Amino acid sequence: MSDTKRYTVTAALPYTNGPVHIGHLAGVYIPADIYVRYLRAKEKDVIYICGSDEHGVPITLRAKKEGVSPQEIVDKYNTIIKKSFQDFGISFDNYSRTSSKIHHQTASDFFKKLYDNGKFIEETSMQLYDAEADQFLADRFVIGTCPKCGNTESYGDQCEQCGTSHNATDLIHPKSAITGNIPSLKETKHWYLPLNEYEDWLRQWIVEGHKNDWKPNVLGQVKSWLDDGLRPRAVTRDLDWGIPVPVKGAKGKVLYVWFDAPIGYISSTKEWASNTGKDWEPYWKDKDTKLIHFIGKDNIVFHAIIFPSMLKAEGSYILPENVPANEFLNLEGNKISTSKNWAVWLHEYLQDFPDKQDVLRYVLTANAPESKDNDFTWKDFQARNNNELVAILGNFINRVTVLTHKYYNGIVPKKGNHFKELDKIAQFRNQIGQSIENFRFREASQELMNLARMGNVFLQEQEPWKKSKEDPEAVEGIMFTALQIAAALAHLSEPLLPFTAKKLSHILNTKHLAWDLVFVDQNQSLLEEGHSINASELLFEKIEEESIQQQLDKLAATKTQNKEEQKEIAPEKKVISFDDFTGMDIRIGTILEAEKVAKTKKLLKLLVDVGSDKRTIISGIAETYNPEKIIGQKVCVLTNLAPRKIRGVESQGMLLMTETKKGKLSFITPSDDDIHNGEIVN
Ligand code: 2FM
Ligand code: ZN
Repeated sequence: MSDTKRYTVTAALPYTNGPVHIGHLAGVYIPADIYVRYLRAKEKDVIYICGSDEHGVPITLRAKKEGVSPQEIVDKYNTIIKKSFQDFGISFDNYSRTSSKIHHQTASDFFKKLYDNGKFIEETSMQLYDAEADQFLADRFVIGTCPKCGNTESYGDQCEQCGTSHNATDLIHPKSAITGNIPSLKETKHWYLPLNEYEDWLRQWIVEGHKNDWKPNVLGQVKSWLDDGLRPRAVTRDLDWGIPVPVKGAKGKVLYVWFDAPIGYISSTKEWASNTGKDWEPYWKDKDTKLIHFIGKDNIVFHAIIFPSMLKAEGSYILPENVPANEFLNLEGNKISTSKNWAVWLHEYLQDFPDKQDVLRYVLTANAPESKDNDFTWKDFQARNNNELVAILGNFINRVTVLTHKYYNGIVPKKGNHFKELDKIAQFRNQIGQSIENFRFREASQELMNLARMGNVFLQEQEPWKKSKEDPEAVEGIMFTALQIAAALAHLSEPLLPFTAKKLSHILNTKHLAWDLVFVDQNQSLLEEGHSINASELLFEKIEEESIQQQLDKLAATKTQNKEEQKEIAPEKKVISFDDFTGMDIRIGTILEAEKVAKTKKLLKLLVDVGSDKRTIISGIAETYNPEKIIGQKVCVLTNLAPRKIRGVESQGMLLMTETKKGKLSFITPSDDDIHNGEIVN
């Protein structure tokens, strides 16, 4: 770290098709923010770059769903997302948009350079097409079975279950996400980046070159793709929303969103440079710059394979030094989902817990999905707040500041001889720093809490409140040391808990100090003797059962609503033989008579003509059907079901029914009037 001249840190550009939630924060923006704040405290030259990803199918689909234009969608969500990031103290140096002019120009020029230098393959091929929607089906416009893992909900460009990235034509049983139709094939021309040509180089660079510093989850995915073999990848699409392909013969075509989005990091840097009067190029082209991409695990292929291959093809850019990807955060045991509203939205969190940004930052860091998927639960949120932030950190600061006011009117007393504790401050500083440098943010958060723990143990052992009368000099030494620990916490908590650090610095009346100056040696005082601190304030407050229950109730309501809207698809039953199936005698019948079965709510007694005979069937359909209204209704009947006595009446068969999402029953009837009683269903 010491000899690195500058850092370009990027955080994945969020799709602008919905607000941001805790999964986004935990996966990408908080770890990157901690890293950057730490580098700034180390006085490094660092920029933190992000922006809205405003092209691509997710936006178009959302616009179709809401019945508005894609532009309206991105304008709306860009504003909401940007505000959420600001509210949570995500300290980007620049937050741009891929719909900006500078981005269109940069991405267009990038494509053109690769095109002019013969880096693409131009190919006309048959692609999936939805005739009803008049739309080629790529990416999220098409859903089908993943050829690798069998996930039936895979997108055209990527399977979220196994992470595989594929072409839409690889999907088994593809279906249009717009109309639900089975697509046809239609000829179209596209430009492909021949990833296969970069395979050896990628293996060398990542598998050999970064085997010790990239996270195992990232290396694992990269190796598996390389072992499967890379194939040329289309970087253009037939769409009307995106950056037009800047070459002749490409009318109606735009750049693939995953071609333009990562270039967004470059254009956002350019925007930052032009706003601040800086030069953007060293941040992307100087070999002494470290480029670090913070992403979620579904973005690994794009940042570790595709974007680096694009940068390599272009030739003048540096490559990422690391791609620290997190796994996914679940919510109360279920996958976070924008479409199912299964999320804790940041703007809603702040309405319910105003000024508690750091509580969420802390919980999401302490429980971050760094090496495996993890679960966010409201109980854990409450426990981390009450048992750690309040009971350890908040309690220590409160004790120190209250006692300082009580004994010394808020003036820092004389130094004592508690060198052991003072030495430990520097050790904690180094440990927290090491953890952050190694992308182990969970560990860093626990080290920080351990420093506060040490403070509490120190006070508990020294018991200044018992010695204040008989040994005032000793108490001064104790309080001096406790105040140094408190000041160290103000400085060292800044990357993780920026709001708390600010509040604490105000209470202690101290200014920002560079990371490496936080306790250099025992002669240093972070708060000098005679320094005056401000009034004591509580850093954190207990979160009561009631607030947690409200959140759980909100999620329960979402679950109920989802169930009503989309009745869960029942799992498939176990396989039966063909003989089992042909053994069932299902035939068409007509209801001749119907009456309610006395003292029951659900049952009707029916007389049904099944061709061969007329028989009595008891059926549980009375809540949906009025007996008078179903006389003459054609139905499907399982006729060879063993007879059963129901309420004293023998039922000689069963009607086949289905059920709407809201639980309303529905007959299965032949669509042709020419089908008569007794006809076999098979
Ligand atoms: O997964 C996503 O949300 C993408 N919008 C991330 C893009 S990252 C980058 F390449 F811009
Ligand atoms: Zn898969």
